[in-house]
Amino acid sequence: MPPLSARSSEAAPAGIDGWSPTSWQSRLALQQPEYPSAAALEAVLRQLGRLPPLVTSGEIEALRSQLAEAARGDRFLLQGGDCAEQFAECDAEVIAGKLKILLQMSLLLVHGAEKRVIRVGRFAGQYAKPRSEQVEARDGVTLPVYRGDLINGVAFEPAERTPDPERLLRGYERAALTLNFIRALIDGGFADLHHPEYWDLEWVRHSPFAAEYQRLAESIGDSLRFMETLSGERVGQTTRVDFFTSHEGLHLRYEQAQTRQVPQRDGWYNLSTHLPWIGMRTSQLDGAHVEYFRGIANPIAVKVGPGTSPEALLELAAVLDPSNEPGRLTLIHRFGARGIARGLPPLVQAVERARRRVLWVCDPMHGNTERIGERFKTRKFEHILSEVEQAFDIHQRAGTYLGGVHVELTGENVTECMGGARNLSEADLARAYRSFVDPRLNYEQALELAMLIARRMRH
Ligand code: PEP
Ligand code: CO
Repeated sequence: MPPLSARSSEAAPAGIDGWSPTSWQSRLALQQPEYPSAAALEAVLRQLGRLPPLVTSGEIEALRSQLAEAARGDRFLLQGGDCAEQFAECDAEVIAGKLKILLQMSLLLVHGAEKRVIRVGRFAGQYAKPRSEQVEARDGVTLPVYRGDLINGVAFEPAERTPDPERLLRGYERAALTLNFIRALIDGGFADLHHPEYWDLEWVRHSPFAAEYQRLAESIGDSLRFMETLSGERVGQTTRVDFFTSHEGLHLRYEQAQTRQVPQRDGWYNLSTHLPWIGMRTSQLDGAHVEYFRGIANPIAVKVGPGTSPEALLELAAVLDPSNEPGRLTLIHRFGARGIARGLPPLVQAVERARRRVLWVCDPMHGNTERIGERFKTRKFEHILSEVEQAFDIHQRAGTYLGGVHVELTGENVTECMGGARNLSEADLARAYRSFVDPRLNYEQALELAMLIARRMRH
């Protein structure tokens, strides 16, 4: 009889090549919080290690095979969500809004680009943030930086900014609540969101592509109605949509606590999410994050950008994906509209020459962040679009395939990124700027981006 419960990572036997869920602890781990009480942290981690998983290895394997198809050019990955989820925004409307925008974007891509789409949320666990500085100073007072709700609070007060291990449990619980609601919405059909007559398309009038957008929305409506007439059922009830989760695997004790073996399958799975990724600041070849990631059985992603050399990338790929397994490795490039033409081609060529089977994804957000005055970080829609368009061109010329986009967005009507059909300006930012970290595309900007990507893929 196989054990009924997943085995936890404490007291784990060493895996292949000296890997175990704890082997990262002998490497330098950047971006980890320092807790005032080691005993309190250990007590929390023991609890986390016993709580049930959020996702299953079966779902993870299903995602891996879809990612392998995307790497071959047969699917397109849409990965999106907040830069950082906030505990206070674990709210029905906000979650439904995020699901709605991702679903609508994916429909535009399916119909406009005629590609099957893999939907992966940056949600249900995207609570920890890497930071460039260790501390923040205001009016002569210096406190630790905000590292995301999983670690400390955003308010500039000593108690809030002190890392609190209880937050690991609160984050885990909110991830579970989020995922539970998402699964329920999907199982319940969420069907109306398929129908363009329920879409908020007011903004379309402001775009130079108004007529084209309108035609696209109508043609989606027509094909859905056609399918419903054929089957005699509502689309949401006949076609189950898959949704997967992802987050940056930054806080290694947290990730380790949910790294388990499961009955009937080999290897160790991170069961807190389907697709964890390594961020730009923690992808050092000899660092703790790469050590942890190389041993888990999930498909994994790595951010690459300015400063990633072709040689380093090949070494990284060899460590993270030694058997060149389809679907295992996704490379998310983020150079910025001004850097991609110079930065991306050498990486693509090196990976191609080495005959590596990776999925290439463009993150047009993190290379395009700029500061406006003291208060706001923003991004311009035109830079975001330009980076995606250049990415399509570069991959096409290299004979590789741009298999997805990774975007920061929200279903809400925020004013954090500039431009788009309504041409949000600097003066608009203060009106509804809600992110504590990076600026997100709002509902309209996200839909517009999807329409423009679909348009580009069709041509
Ligand atoms: C992020 O995705 O929010 C992020 C911090 O990105 P990067 O690691 O690419 O800077
Ligand atoms: Co971000």
